[in-house]
Amino acid sequence: MTTPAPTVVPVDLADRSYDILIGPGLLAAAGDELARRFPGSRYAVITDETVAERHLDTVAASLTEAGLGFASIVVSPGEGSKSFETLESVVDGVLSARLERGDLLIALGGGVIGDLVGFAAGVVRRGMRFVQMPTTLLSQVDSSVGGKTGINTRHGKNLVGLFHQPALVMADTAALDTLDPRHLRAGYAEVVKYGLIDDAEFFDWLDANRAEIFAGGPARIGAIAASCRAKAEVVRIDETEQGPRALLNLGHTFGHAFETACDYDAERLVHGEAVAIGMALAHRFSARLNLVSPDDAARVAAHLSAAGLPTKISDIPGGVGSVDDLMRAIFQDKKVKRGRLTFILTRGVGEAFVADDVVPEQVRDFLEEELAG
Ligand code: GLY
Repeated sequence: MTTPAPTVVPVDLADRSYDILIGPGLLAAAGDELARRFPGSRYAVITDETVAERHLDTVAASLTEAGLGFASIVVSPGEGSKSFETLESVVDGVLSARLERGDLLIALGGGVIGDLVGFAAGVVRRGMRFVQMPTTLLSQVDSSVGGKTGINTRHGKNLVGLFHQPALVMADTAALDTLDPRHLRAGYAEVVKYGLIDDAEFFDWLDANRAEIFAGGPARIGAIAASCRAKAEVVRIDETEQGPRALLNLGHTFGHAFETACDYDAERLVHGEAVAIGMALAHRFSARLNLVSPDDAARVAAHLSAAGLPTKISDIPGGVGSVDDLMRAIFQDKKVKRGRLTFILTRGVGEAFVADDVVPEQVRDFLEEELAG
């Protein structure tokens, strides 16, 4: 099978630079690509049971055909695998396979696998290289790029981890054909985020091309490539989130509070849905603070809604508890400085900014209104 030439998005980070390859058929072509880029290396392909069923044979056949040695490690699906226990089993599997420091781990799957494997790669033998092979839209446009890795603890999400950039990202867009529609929609929320942060033209393009993006084909690849370019640029200027990278958290402070309130129960709410509600709220909150016009806030909510995404707290099945619960989660999620909160707010579509002086009472009043509405 011939694979069309992928779109290549470079991530420019001096000696940690790497390419993001985007296109259909990349998993089936993985062996040749890896053999060319990392001659003489061996691999551990790490994935979860659900992704293994869909894609592990394809990757394994491709590696075998290219004459590459590899071990496979399969963990349980779901957020629960971002744990010390699963990390230990992955590390043990990598060491049992006798991978050396110059060898590579492959993260085949969604955000959970990417974060877990990236972290394992960062700590095994004091740092191994790894390849991201994201198989969900969310991981293709966000979590596989930029080197944030980590696991969860009982104190909260992603509280143990490190910045460890991958050596290569291979985003096989054909993998999205087997992704369930709910997860495709959820990943789309992170695509919209890039337009809302600083690219009104991209948001307009999404408005005009939403149906084509969901249908697949060139528009979808274009949306993924534009998202990766946007993320690569933010990561280039602020790899370790000292400043502007925080813009990528648009919608996430509210969103994480809802995920916490739902106990990270994916039946009720998945990350991208929480971000969609969070982004709609960030715009309405900005409107309440007279930073943005209510029309812009309504336009953003209408776009997300038309994509089948939730935009209101009442869209979350089972409710999210009281305003006190939400405020507690917000205080835990974000750094509080002298009693003020940091939020990503906006002055318009494509004009997001970091506001580090948000008064908690204003957030509380706003959430009370949203809960009532
Ligand atoms: N997902 C946010 C970031 O990578 O910074």
